[in-house]
Formats: sequence, structure tokens, C-alpha cells
Amino acid sequence: MTYQTICATPASPHIGAEITRIDLTAPLSNTQVEELHHAFARYQVLFFRDQKISFDDQIRLASYFGPLGRHVGKSTISKTTDNPMVRKFHYDETSTQISGENFHSDQSCAENPPLGTMLYNHTVPPDGGGDTMFASMYAAYDALSDRMKTYLEGLTATHDGTRVFGPGTPVSVHPVIIRHPVTGRKVIYVNTDFTSHINDLPRREADSLLHFLIAHCDRSEWTCRFRWHAHSIAFWDNRCCQHKAIWDYWPNVRSGFRVQIDGSGPPVAG
Ligand code: SIN
Repeated sequence: MTYQTICATPASPHIGAEITRIDLTAPLSNTQVEELHHAFARYQVLFFRDQKISFDDQIRLASYFGPLGRHVGKSTISKTTDNPMVRKFHYDETSTQISGENFHSDQSCAENPPLGTMLYNHTVPPDGGGDTMFASMYAAYDALSDRMKTYLEGLTATHDGTRVFGPGTPVSVHPVIIRHPVTGRKVIYVNTDFTSHINDLPRREADSLLHFLIAHCDRSEWTCRFRWHAHSIAFWDNRCCQHKAIWDYWPNVRSGFRVQIDGSGPPVAG
């Protein structure tokens, strides 16, 4: 889609767009910000290339979408930096695991999960690898049968942060189907990493339903795959997409910085 200031090239039929004709090392005009908001709502994840951004640039860009927030977990895989809002995502030959290898929505265990997340990678493996996959939860919801959509209405699920980040991490209950606050579209809101169980049903039914939903959400039909180059950025909307990182590049280095934007409130039932 051509905007007045930026250009958005879709990455797949359902999700993702690469944004060009923009320099993220300088403040953006009001029109650029409006157009980025529009593209973010439309494509769910935005990709930028050849942007040698500083912490300040990354924070400024993310702040156009809301106040920055802090990670709710005690993750030891990603690291803090000297800026409390910026986390370092660095993997090399000493790494024994990486963050986010299953499809998930960031910190869905929080009462008020982050609205969006922005990852900048300045260093990537020399022969490719380390792609991130994104899955549209709009497309996953839309593909359900009407009977299944009706069945899921009103159900809730428990999202348990201790499964990923260990003791002391939040556990929250969210609707299984939520409504995106900007687009008004419905989204399946369960994921492999954080969702421990569906409530309100006998255990065996709940387990089978969760298993079905997770397999459905992870189907490749509604995904796109982002191939990182040095100085690329991916900026995703946790309210309507899931993502997973692929660790196929050990012992090579992939390194960058991540910020997250506070949610505007708990997920609302669809
Ligand atoms: C994550 O945020 O889960 C990691 C994404 C990535 O490293 O590609």
C-alpha cells in the first residue's frame, strides 16, 4: 500500500509488511506517525531495514505508540542494559538457549500484557538463520467454524508466567477470544508458552481444546517469516499476532536490543 510518506510492501497475504521511505534515526513527522499507526493496525508486524538506530532512536520510535514498559519476568536469557527500558538479546557460541522458540504473545501472563514489542538486530549470522516467524491471530480466528467460534465465546484461559520465567512471575486469566482495541477484530488469545489451561471446562475437554487451538494458531497458512539483515527492526502487535524465534545459527552471533510498549489495559473479551 502506498501512503503519502511511507511505502508498505506486504510480506504475506495475512500478516507483515516491510516499511520503506523512512529514516528512523530522526524524529518523524505527524503524518509519518499516523501512517505508521495505520500500517501497524493493518499488517500487525512492521519490518524496517538499514536503520542504524541508537537506544534513543529505538525508544523514540516505540514511544510514538505509547509509554514504554518493563519486562514482567525474571528472564536470564535476555539481559538488562544501562537503560531500564532496553533489554539486550544476544546469542553466541556460549548460549545454551534463546528466548521465544515457541509461538507466543509476549508476557501474556501479565494482567496488562505489552501492546507491542520492537526488536532491533545489529548483528546477524553470516549465512542467514535466526529468522523470526509471525502468525496472524485474526486469520486463525477467522478460519474457525461458526460452531467453534460460538463454543469459545465466554471461555477464559490461565496464562502462567512461571512456565517460562520461573517463580515470582505473574499468572493471569484472560478471555480465550479477545477483541483488538483498535481494529475491533476478534483474535484467538492462547499460546504454547504461557497458556497452562482453559478454565470453565472439565480437564480432559479443556486439555483437548487447548491442544487443538494451539495447533490451529501455529499453522503456517497465517504466518510470515522475517529474514534478518544487520540493522533490521521488527515491530509487532502482541494483541493480534504471535511470534517465534528460530535458533538454527549456533555457534554464530545474533545480537540486538528490544523495547516493549505498555498495554493500554487487560485484554477484552471478543
Ligand atoms: C522474542 O521476543 O520472543 C524473541 C524474538 C526473536 O529473537 O526473534
